[in-house]
Amino acid sequence: KDQYAVYGNPVKHSKSPQIHAAFAEQTGQQLHYRAHKVELERFAETAGQFFSHGGKGLNITVPFKLDAFEFADQLSGRARRAGAVNTLALQEDGSIYGDNTDGVGLVRDMHDNLGWELSGRRVLVLGAGGAVRGILGPLLKQGPAHVLVANRTVDKAQSLAAHFDSLGNIAGCSYDGLAGGQFDLIINGTSASMSGDLPPLPHHILSTEACAYDMMYGPEPTPFMRWAAGETAWAVSDGLGMLVEQAAESFCIWRGVRPDTKPVIELVRQSLS
Ligand code: ATR
Repeated sequence: KDQYAVYGNPVKHSKSPQIHAAFAEQTGQQLHYRAHKVELERFAETAGQFFSHGGKGLNITVPFKLDAFEFADQLSGRARRAGAVNTLALQEDGSIYGDNTDGVGLVRDMHDNLGWELSGRRVLVLGAGGAVRGILGPLLKQGPAHVLVANRTVDKAQSLAAHFDSLGNIAGCSYDGLAGGQFDLIINGTSASMSGDLPPLPHHILSTEACAYDMMYGPEPTPFMRWAAGETAWAVSDGLGMLVEQAAESFCIWRGVRPDTKPVIELVRQSLS
């Protein structure tokens, strides 16, 4: 069987083996996919061995997406713009192709699964770390009216906005700078939810049809999702669909077949609690 894996540290709680096993079963593809914890300084060495032993593809998660970016022989445009790689694929000539499927995964979940309109919307993105950098390109391609990136460390929001400003109308600001603004879509790309925190958001920044998306997920709604519900957002979602959609895009790169994500989102949802 063709060998695939997700590399991360930690990686024990990764849902990727379950997701890819479900995709393989559904599409009749013969493959084996496992989670592997990689030592912090040994990404290139470990990935090099994987491919030299016949491995076909890797998913990359925290903290190795920059290492994977360096490791790839060729990069997709969206990986180059994101400065990070979450998918490595062995090519026929033996070289390694690097792509980033996180942004397209987010957009597919919001647009195709949740039915949220993105074009013409006033979008607010919270956070300016690697997770946000990975999604801004595909998000701007949807043609939002504008994207505002808010971050605790405002310099990071501003330099990230500058990096993407050839793709659309985008700016950076602090959380204080949000007061009085109105947004139709708010995406939480901070890691605050992981520690049960919420960025300091002012009241009344959501429009009457505003949608709120947390890139995190868990068995319970995150603090951000509870905040959005309290501000009477029109719709609220966690990031489980994004996780499955980015995996589907990777699967498609590797196998040339696009799985049906809906039953797999339900499957993973059931396994969360
Ligand atoms: P990742 O790769 O997951 O994005 P990161 O690069 O460490 O991780 O970025 C984490 C993001 O979450 C940053 O935007 C961080 O804000 P700062 O750049 O100001 O540090 C944000 N973040 C983390 N904890 C937060 C909290 N409690 N409140 C607000 N923002 C938070």
